[in-house]
Amino acid sequence: MTPPEHDVLRIETIPVEACNDGTVVAMVTINRPNKLNALNADVTSAMKEMVAWVESEDLVRCVIITGAQPLEPDEGKRAKPNAFVAGADITEFLGAESEEIATKFTNNAIEALWNVTKPTIAMVDGFALGGGLEVACSCDIRIASSRSKFGTPEINLGLIPGYGGTQRLVSLLGYGKALEMVYTGEMINAEEAFRIGLVNHVVESNELEQKALYMACLIATKSSSTLRVAKETLRSALDEGLTEGVATEARAFAGLFDTEDKEIGVQAFLNRENAQWKHK
Ligand code: COA
Repeated sequence: MTPPEHDVLRIETIPVEACNDGTVVAMVTINRPNKLNALNADVTSAMKEMVAWVESEDLVRCVIITGAQPLEPDEGKRAKPNAFVAGADITEFLGAESEEIATKFTNNAIEALWNVTKPTIAMVDGFALGGGLEVACSCDIRIASSRSKFGTPEINLGLIPGYGGTQRLVSLLGYGKALEMVYTGEMINAEEAFRIGLVNHVVESNELEQKALYMACLIATKSSSTLRVAKETLRSALDEGLTEGVATEARAFAGLFDTEDKEIGVQAFLNRENAQWKHK
């Protein structure tokens, strides 16, 4: 299993010991630390390639997205701050017009990440701003260090979020809080992000990787086919009304009764054993 290689996007495969069958978690690091991991065209194109690779590799059962840590500064220079991603690369906006941007933002990398059928976790340590917050919001789960900061500063550039952030923030935070963030462009700290439901967990930075890997590995031990149905079914709650969504769930739930993994899971429980999933 060889992940695509890019300077701006490192992919590491981490074996899930509890599975003992080659199952891995993919740790994906956006790697432009001197630019606070800002999303330029190279990063977004590598992200699309990464998504295709994740979908093609059965043994990749969960994905963690994170940002590279700051490099040691040159002598006499100040260190760059920690960042998940400090937004879209603003240098690519100068002089850009609507046609170019519409093309660039249609079927973009963040949408591809949102549409990954496998579980995704954003591991945030530092600034998650603008497009960076949108990357985090496109993941299923967000785990942050206590020193992280979140915001949608696009308003200060005369812009609004453009990677689906307006929509995903409303579904995560509710209309009022989402509008406040978009209107003011102000940053909030990790504690506030947790309080308003933007992140699932906040831990100290030295515990962040352990926490994210623990959750990713736990998820990776489940049946991948059942996880896929779970993601699709919960996703339908965002797009469908309650009545239609409950009907979608009923179909998905019943459908799982025709899978081998349901029989394996139930049998394993009754035999007091760990389930050996077929993942089909
Ligand atoms: N696009 C391009 N470059 C960016 C960037 C972005 N979104 N965010 C940071 N950088 C670059 C800076 O230009 C700087 O590069 P340089 O050292 O070559 O000059 C480097 O990353 C470090 O950032 P700097 O601003 O010096 O760090 P800081 O500690 O003073 O401030 C922030 C940190 C996050 C507050 C500040 O970088 C910032 O506001 N970034 C833009 C956030 C934003 O508006 N994002 C939304 C974009 S749509």
